[in-house]
Amino acid sequence: MSRIAYVNGAYLPIAYATVHIEDRGNQFSDGAYEGITVYDGKIIDLVPHLARLRRSLSELRISAPMGDAALTQVIKEVVRRNRTNSAMIYMQVSRGAAKRDHAFPENIKPSLIITCRRLDFAAINARVKSGVKASSQPDTRWSRCDIKSISLLPNILAKQAAREKGSFEAILVDSDGLVTEGSSTNVWIVTPEGTLVTRSTDDNILPGITRSAIIRLARDMQMPIEERAFTVKEAKGATEMFLTSSSCCAQPIIAFDDAPIGNGKPGPTVKRLVEQYRIFMDAQ
Ligand SMILES: Cc1ncc(COP(=O)(O)O)c(C=O)c1O
Repeated sequence: MSRIAYVNGAYLPIAYATVHIEDRGNQFSDGAYEGITVYDGKIIDLVPHLARLRRSLSELRISAPMGDAALTQVIKEVVRRNRTNSAMIYMQVSRGAAKRDHAFPENIKPSLIITCRRLDFAAINARVKSGVKASSQPDTRWSRCDIKSISLLPNILAKQAAREKGSFEAILVDSDGLVTEGSSTNVWIVTPEGTLVTRSTDDNILPGITRSAIIRLARDMQMPIEERAFTVKEAKGATEMFLTSSSCCAQPIIAFDDAPIGNGKPGPTVKRLVEQYRIFMDAQ
């Protein structure tokens, strides 16, 4: 069965799902997006994902293509038509199509596309069990990383550089030597004193939806947490390090720039958080 995508009002087989050649998403990366997990038929954390999309669009002065209730219906219909209960939904809103001009065209209608691709939870679980390697890369992004913009070139280049070093993720490092986030994840450490640390969201990182869920779960479990920046050196001396994102849940890092983290195996804190996150997903 061919995959079905939603494009500006129509549900189409993916091969026929196209946008206008002068769509500003295509020509200027002028848009915002969300990636949302479907787990066991449940759409995880849909409400905060819709809220973050609305905020990104408002910061970019792009009008929302429809209200949240209608958008929810469309997302559910895309999932239903793709007959899957484990998937990643990709939803993108661009400013729309118009004659190419940097300034906003007048009376432009936003363009909405939604795709749904099967997510391999067995592979995700295997990675969570084994842990992955990560490499540091300079953070060369713009100064509005709080917006989930579709303009991702620095993230792509950093991820590719990390992959070429045999790493799963690029850990982005700012000009002060402080870790910001991953190329498509938020980054966490556990200090030798047992405190969970992740960079604060008022510090120009993407406010990850999984990050928020993990903070809530950790607080419920009475784990000490600090939201603050940390250096590469502090990360290398951490007992645990892990990533969070909608697609990877909480992913242990066992080596950073080839230095083992802790004993070089996924640690107990991330294991407990993954267990609690699964319970949270099951309860949606
Ligand atoms: C740069 C960046 N940071 C963090 C995340 C994690 O966000 P979330 O947990 O909402 O998936 C993403 C996800 O795409 C990302 O692109």
